[in-house]
Amino acid sequence: MKNIEIKDLSFAYEDEPERLVLDHIDLHVDPGDFVCLLGQSGCGKSTFLRLLAGLERPTSGAVCVNGDPIKGAGLDRSVVFQDYGLFPWMTAGENLILALRQKFPKENKRKLKDLALDMLEKVGLKPEVYDKLPKELSGGMKQRCAIARSFGIDPPILLMDEPFGALDAVTRAKLQTMILDLWAKEEPKKTVFFVTHDVDEALLLANRICVFGQSPSKIIHECRIPEDIKPTRETIYENGPIMKLRTQLIRYINQDVTEHIA
Ligand SMILES: Nc1ncnc2c1ncn2[C@@H]1O[C@H](COP(=O)(O)OP(=O)(O)OP(=O)(O)O)[C@@H](O)[C@H]1O
Ligand SMILES: [Mg+2]
Repeated sequence: MKNIEIKDLSFAYEDEPERLVLDHIDLHVDPGDFVCLLGQSGCGKSTFLRLLAGLERPTSGAVCVNGDPIKGAGLDRSVVFQDYGLFPWMTAGENLILALRQKFPKENKRKLKDLALDMLEKVGLKPEVYDKLPKELSGGMKQRCAIARSFGIDPPILLMDEPFGALDAVTRAKLQTMILDLWAKEEPKKTVFFVTHDVDEALLLANRICVFGQSPSKIIHECRIPEDIKPTRETIYENGPIMKLRTQLIRYINQDVTEHIA
């Protein structure tokens, strides 16, 4: 069980040290929360995820897991990147095995292959995919492989950066359901940070939503979705409280954009 504490976090990239991308962000996330991050392009969502992944260090402030500042990448966190992040020269299976070997260094290849095939099945892919190179797979299949790899190492914290951004509506809907199922049926639940531009996707997946403002970015709005109003895909547009939240979220996002254009 891992809680995450973001304390007065500010960040600037080294090549532009005077330009803050993230500006004094505070956030406490409980174990098992599914947090969706919304915000305009370029506001710093991927940067925020990279800090959580330990791929960047805070300029000031801290990102702590169970009270300890994150010092680098770790097996307690895995990332599904915007562009899948599969090594193109390795088959889907080899990509999975590479990740699984970090988690299970003592297991033999046979056992790791069984685990990899099991994960492919869980994300709805056929065993043949194991021997295919990423370039031989569709976008949706690559995205499923990337998700299989992340869930395969079974981290308590999962970081997902617009994982469904490049997919058609039907594939996207299928993968949203798959992620929700994978997350909901595990106990203890994983803590998930999920970046999206899609307000409806956030309402469907999250129990907590944070809206990031324009650069330098702060969290300009936050809401929780209580269990008793949690929508399903079928009922979302008839769910009064959810539609109210949706209007509020869109208003916050648009208002922030308008203020920055003005
Ligand atoms: N490696 C980098 N070096 C310098 N600046 C960067 C780097 N990566 C991102 N930036 C800058 O930091 C800001 C935030 O970028 P980031 O990728 O975090 O935004 P984002 O919210 O994820 O956008 P999008 O929704 O388009 O993915 C942008 O101004 C971007 O140009
Ligand atoms: Mg991004």
